[in-house]
Amino acid sequence: MPTITSLFVLAALGAAVAASPLASASSSSAFPGSTAKVPGLNAVAKAAGKLYFGTATDNPELNDTAYTTILDNNRQFGQITPANSMKWDATEPSPGNFTFEGGDVIRDLAKGNGQILRGHNCVWYSQLPDWVAFGNFTFDELIAIVENHCGTLVGHYRGQISLSTTCSNRLVLTTPIVFTFARQMPGMLLMALNDDGTFREDIFFNVTGTAYIPAALRAAREADPHAKLYINDYNIEGTGNKSTALQNLIKELKKDGVPIDGVGFQCHFEVGGVPSTLVENFRAFEALGVEFAVTELDVRMTLPETDELLEQQKEDYQTVVEACLAVPACVGVTIWDFTDKYSWVPGAFPGWGAACPWDENLVKKPAYDGIVIGFEDH
Ligand code: XIL
Repeated sequence: MPTITSLFVLAALGAAVAASPLASASSSSAFPGSTAKVPGLNAVAKAAGKLYFGTATDNPELNDTAYTTILDNNRQFGQITPANSMKWDATEPSPGNFTFEGGDVIRDLAKGNGQILRGHNCVWYSQLPDWVAFGNFTFDELIAIVENHCGTLVGHYRGQISLSTTCSNRLVLTTPIVFTFARQMPGMLLMALNDDGTFREDIFFNVTGTAYIPAALRAAREADPHAKLYINDYNIEGTGNKSTALQNLIKELKKDGVPIDGVGFQCHFEVGGVPSTLVENFRAFEALGVEFAVTELDVRMTLPETDELLEQQKEDYQTVVEACLAVPACVGVTIWDFTDKYSWVPGAFPGWGAACPWDENLVKKPAYDGIVIGFEDH
């Protein structure tokens, strides 16, 4: 049994999708009995040999007891990620002033629920406090800031952001560090790359080149030798320039003896937009000797939702789960919150939404069945 602690977050609010009769009709009648027999997504994920099925959550949602009743069920979710409260702006709002209250709430929640905690994140170009984003630093100063931030954050959660397996005492999971590979997004370590595979010109790259990446990873490893260190990014799910660039970065880090344990594939997809090369791409990372996870899965659609879109969304969730199952190095799947009520999608992509497996009324959608079928299909 994994013992863990966690933490999590969530985001934006789902607009639209007024109590969709479609959604409830679909989960109760389109797939008769399918969900009723299933004890939960984490239970089916573990039965299929994965370590967990998890979700992101966010501190503001934790007052919603209808929501937390589902969140706290570790048959449903065996892992939690804080959507915001471990990010730099939340954890070091001014230089050297560390604030872990929000993160600690999620850690305690996960611990109490017997859920694994994934940290999120150490270094990212977004949700940075101004003192970092607009600082005027020398190379040495910024490296020291990155090391101090990552080391203090990971050190605070030492032994907790992890997953311990029964077979060995080795702690498994992830510590926050997102290497962004694109010019826009977050991940779990640092997002270091652009979509074309070149390095992102954020404050970190502009001041240190790529030196901040090994600096962050080494500081994190030193702070918690057992925490798994992941680079987490988006638009690396299919083959292409960005994926290739990340593979090259991982090869280089390994060659240089820099600690790197895993890759987080965010998987923020559009309905019908799951890359056809998902499994091939996953295998390419496995071949590098790293584990990986689907870390932020959601499948957004244009609003209003329709039966067809919900059906395609179900297939898309199933496809992603099956891809994780197809590749042994995939440790688990995390959705970026489980309900449209608290999804970040409508806020980030105007006109889009309904991206989660539970609707705004906390009713399961066909996507839920897609996940179950995906895990049972092994
Ligand atoms: C999102 C949160 O869910 C929102 O609440 C916040 O406003 C913006 O960030 N990729 C990531 C996550 O790695 O950190 C992002 O989380 C979603 C995209």
